[in-house]
Amino acid sequence: MIVIITGASSGIGLATANFLTEKGYKVYGLSRRLPENSKFENLSCDITDYDAVLQKLNYIFEKEGKIDVLINNAGMGIAGAIEHTENENIQKIFDLNILAVINCSKLVVPFMRAGGGGKIINISSVAGVIPIPFQTCYSVTKSAVDMFSMAFGLEVKDFKIQLTSIMPGDTKSSFVDNRVKNKLLEDENYKTRIESSIKKMEKDERKGMSPLCVSKVIYKTIRKKKSPSRITVGFNYKLIVFLSKILPRKFMLYVIKKIYG
Ligand SMILES: NC(=O)c1ccc[n+]([C@@H]2O[C@H](COP(=O)([O-])OP(=O)(O)OC[C@H]3O[C@@H](n4cnc5c(N)ncnc54)[C@H](OP(=O)(O)O)[C@@H]3O)[C@@H](O)[C@H]2O)c1
Repeated sequence: MIVIITGASSGIGLATANFLTEKGYKVYGLSRRLPENSKFENLSCDITDYDAVLQKLNYIFEKEGKIDVLINNAGMGIAGAIEHTENENIQKIFDLNILAVINCSKLVVPFMRAGGGGKIINISSVAGVIPIPFQTCYSVTKSAVDMFSMAFGLEVKDFKIQLTSIMPGDTKSSFVDNRVKNKLLEDENYKTRIESSIKKMEKDERKGMSPLCVSKVIYKTIRKKKSPSRITVGFNYKLIVFLSKILPRKFMLYVIKKIYG
């Protein structure tokens, strides 16, 4: 089984690449940095550079003769108010979190079709279902990833290519440290709301589940004959997603504002 995972140099991507390698899969990581002590082959690649991605896919296909699984995992966050977010960073998060997901998926289809099918697993987030203030761009991109998985999944179903979006909740990784923070985290309008919201989210993430919990869900998804279109990781987060579906939107937004607003 040939698996490609983007963002395999740290966190969920690194844990998953190592875990799947241990399970006997041939794993290729695509990230800009090369991880130390990895058990898999990491190809240095900025996934927002589409020519570079195609070149790596061609290289893997020529070497292996097939590509079975693509895991679109690379991602970033932005913390702060939209009003204070630089356009350059807004562009960056959309380029990485959604446009690169669309592009990598689009590019891998011919290779999967040639092999009779495959799986594309997109790492979304519970923040794609629950709107998180002061992480608004992140929520928007992750919600888009979830919708992309469903709609594109219907386009390529006839080629036996299955799409799944996996939604982890808070996970301990380098995500907190890698997140872009706005320069302005307080002003006379927002007062201390932004900082206290960011503190809350950072605290939750640092106490979050191990990346291996997500790796195990990814492994199960690969092994399933028919993978579901969306999976939430962790009991508490499953409950939150379920409640968000059944509770009135007004009430849900009230609770989120109390916690993060
Ligand atoms: N941690 C959480 O609480 C959490 C919760 C839900 C969902 N997620 C999602 O899980 C995924 C993995 O996050 P993580 O927690 O493992 O964070 P992380 O430790 O910060 O890992 C991010 C990965 O993305 C890669 N990356 C960033 N920009 C890239 C680019 N231009 N080209 C190629 N690779 C790039 C990084 O590698 P390089 O810097 O080497 O390129 C790194 O390997 C993300 O999509 C995130 O949104 C995380």
